Amino acid sequence: MTVLNTLVEEIINCRSCRLAEGRTNVVPGEGSWQSGLMLIGEAPGLQEDKQGRPFVGAAGKFLDELLQMIGLSRPEVYIANVIKCRPPQNRDPQPDEINVCKPWLERQISIIEPKVIVTLGRFSLSLFLPGKTIGNCHGKPFCINGITYFPMYHPAAALHQYRLREVIKSDMLKIPELLLEQQTNGTSEEAGDPPAQQLTLF
Ligand code: URA
Repeated sequence: MTVLNTLVEEIINCRSCRLAEGRTNVVPGEGSWQSGLMLIGEAPGLQEDKQGRPFVGAAGKFLDELLQMIGLSRPEVYIANVIKCRPPQNRDPQPDEINVCKPWLERQISIIEPKVIVTLGRFSLSLFLPGKTIGNCHGKPFCINGITYFPMYHPAAALHQYRLREVIKSDMLKIPELLLEQQTNGTSEEAGDPPAQQLTLF
């Protein structure tokens, strides 16, 4: 068994917070462990909880479409969430739940070593770029410690606010260039980036 399989096993058996009580399945994340691109959402919803897989509901369909737009498919990227179990009635994840779950994500990131991390929605954004707001920084890359963080609106937001569909699509179209830049020389730091030590992760 590889270190990666071991990690997934550990995540699946986690009972460290109250969310373990109401879940059907843990949703550890899935995709290519060799991927340069990692997308990180918020938390599993109803369908994800039923199937144990991330982004398999309505928001996931849109995410699939977005990936297809840039010539990628699910197996070629890694998709995970800030928290691995569904909060009851899809309520917002609580700060203590995020804190308890954070080491899983940190370990996933340290194994996958993505070049580009796309944060989907505000919970994922504030984990990596605390203090930033999605309205101001979506579609802008932030390079910190060799990783390009790229904030995007959560795909589910487009289900409620149709005008966001085009915003999300146009942000998505910037990703291939970010991957290319990372392959060649790494991206430059944006003015006003938080210094690395302010990041909550690592
Ligand atoms: N929303 C998320 O943030 N993650 C999922 O896996 C599904 C919906």
